[in-house]
Amino acid sequence: MGLLKSKRIGVLMGGTSAEREISLKTGEAVLASLKRLGYTAVGIDVSEAMPETVKREKIDLAFIALHGPKGEDGTIQGLLEILNIPYTGSGVLASALGMNKIASRKLFLFHKIPVPEFVVLKRGENYTAISKTLNFPIVVKPCSQGSSVGVSIVHQAQELLGAVELALRYDPEVLVERYISGKEVHVGILGDESLGAIEVLSRTPFYNYEAKYIPGMSTHIFPARLSPEVYQTTLDCALAAHRALGCRGYSRVDLIVNGEGVPYVLELNTLPGMTQTSLLPEIARGVGMDFDALINRILELAVGNDGSCQARPSLENGG
Ligand SMILES: Nc1ncnc2c1ncn2[C@@H]1O[C@H](COP(=O)(O)OP(=O)(O)O)[C@@H](O)[C@H]1O
Ligand SMILES: [Mg+2]
Repeated sequence: MGLLKSKRIGVLMGGTSAEREISLKTGEAVLASLKRLGYTAVGIDVSEAMPETVKREKIDLAFIALHGPKGEDGTIQGLLEILNIPYTGSGVLASALGMNKIASRKLFLFHKIPVPEFVVLKRGENYTAISKTLNFPIVVKPCSQGSSVGVSIVHQAQELLGAVELALRYDPEVLVERYISGKEVHVGILGDESLGAIEVLSRTPFYNYEAKYIPGMSTHIFPARLSPEVYQTTLDCALAAHRALGCRGYSRVDLIVNGEGVPYVLELNTLPGMTQTSLLPEIARGVGMDFDALINRILELAVGNDGSCQARPSLENGG
């Protein structure tokens, strides 16, 4: 990868989504790592005038450290395609699908990947009829968000309206789905391989924003405590989800494994958190790959085999 060392790499971070602060942390961690690895890297906060900001920096390659809308949803990927700048991670289509929990679920269902039973609510629709079609508890979440922003677990009918209103603040479409009780596990995918599954235990009623980002509010166990057969099924299921959306490079799949050992896919993150203490880096560490090696691999996966920075085709090729 000698050729890559001569390139100017821009770490795109910040952005305008609700996950801006997390993205800045991911970006700083990635930038520090690239510098340790000997690359010429520059941090770029793309919160305003995105096209001009990206163009001004004259980068050869983008390491995308954004989360949420206008970063993880295919839009910045589209801009980079137009500017002919190669970038890390998934392309336009897979990114857009991953960000949209309804669109991605339709593909998961097509590929027979288990997902919680769900219904979709749009702004202005009658919410109360829903409570008759699903048994409580149910989970209400915005179609396109992350970091558990706008997600609620609803135990009784009178809590439903508030939960739907909250989710609608973030997206005009809301998912109302069956609560799956079981072990929450997250699977890291790198290249076209499931690296491993990590188990998440929260002190909060579910893995909410607080549990995700306040130290001590959640603990992680690697590898997840599942029987060898269920562990393998979970890894296979996550890889199937990654392939179903046509993801590239890396991703993290969030699942709940129920008491019968069935892994239900909750969602796929095309740009998972990449701080030193984030789950994908922790999974990588668990299989002997340190943070810098992980960052280096993600970068290599973004370019041609010879390390040249030719832009890639915009259509997905299934991995
Ligand atoms: N169907 C479900 N059953 C049980 N818990 C759920 C379900 N959906 C979401 N959760 C909980 O909410 C968290 C956030 O949901 P998720 O779908 O991963 O959205 P986000 O994109 O905000 O991370 C999950 O990590 C899990 O703890
Ligand atoms: Mg999640």
